Amino acid sequence: MVVPVAELHMHIEGSLEPEQIYQLAERNRIDLPYRDIDDLRSRYEFTDLQSFLDLYFANMAVLRTAEDFADLTRAYFRRAAAAGVAHAEFFFNPQAHVARGVPLSAVLEGIMDAVSTSEREFSISSAAIAAVLRDQPVRGAEEMLAEIIRLQAPIVGLGLDSAEVGNPPSLFEDVFARARAEGLHVVAHAGEEGPPEYIWQALDLLGAERIDHGVRALEDPALVQRLVDEEIPLTVCPLSNVRLRVFDTLSEHPLRSMLELGLIVTVNSDDPAYFGGYVDDNFAGLEKELGLTESERDVLARNSIKASFASSARKAELLR
Ligand code: ADE
Ligand code: ZN
Repeated sequence: MVVPVAELHMHIEGSLEPEQIYQLAERNRIDLPYRDIDDLRSRYEFTDLQSFLDLYFANMAVLRTAEDFADLTRAYFRRAAAAGVAHAEFFFNPQAHVARGVPLSAVLEGIMDAVSTSEREFSISSAAIAAVLRDQPVRGAEEMLAEIIRLQAPIVGLGLDSAEVGNPPSLFEDVFARARAEGLHVVAHAGEEGPPEYIWQALDLLGAERIDHGVRALEDPALVQRLVDEEIPLTVCPLSNVRLRVFDTLSEHPLRSMLELGLIVTVNSDDPAYFGGYVDDNFAGLEKELGLTESERDVLARNSIKASFASSARKAELLR
């Protein structure tokens, strides 16, 4: 029996495929700064996180209406269902859209329309996590959270993403305290490009319940012990790590060492349209390049369901 997977680390804007960028540009009468779709595709070569983020934010220009966000989210669910995903918790970046003049209410309307029917349409239970852009002023994060609370947005959590180095979690301590007080779950990208210290901060200052990426925890044995002892899940994204040059190749990825250390590792696609694939592609790569076994895959799948914010009833159903 194959255990279904929960995907816990996926940016919905990072599931925007080149074909859909062209379709939405046409629908919204937006001129793209590319000669054609092949020219766009030729730009999917990254040297680090920032080189990817530049293209990721530029391509969001085609997302204008609630319908665009609903279509984007449904396209992800359709592909995720084919990848064996039964539960999805995905990020979205409100600040990036509001800064372009797209109201948060439109973003939420579209995303939540797709979330509300994902179980019926795709057999995927789902939830959205608003992610703070850590390379923007703290004030922007505070305003975003205030607006989310004012609109009573039906999201499950607050996350922290974008350019990591030089933008430590400590900057956002108060924002995350407010989110926790509002009953939101809290997660944070840490230890992708940034140092282990940022993972300590995410735990101690933000109260992060999961660490997104966290691969650089391996540089700090005391931190590894803490993550193991407190059973803090890590949402690891192998193909992303290779495409953003965190590791040179998948065969050098430390995922197996992480499992052997007793860390609660899960496998995720991060930005599947940009990094060479969805969750199934990540598992296939790990099988091929790392010799991932069926029982290891099973552990990873079970970890993902246990680490999710799904109800206990849903978790029990998926773990059966
Ligand atoms: N935003 C989208 N993908 C990201 C990643 N891998 N790290 C940080 N911010 C992101
Ligand atoms: Zn990410």
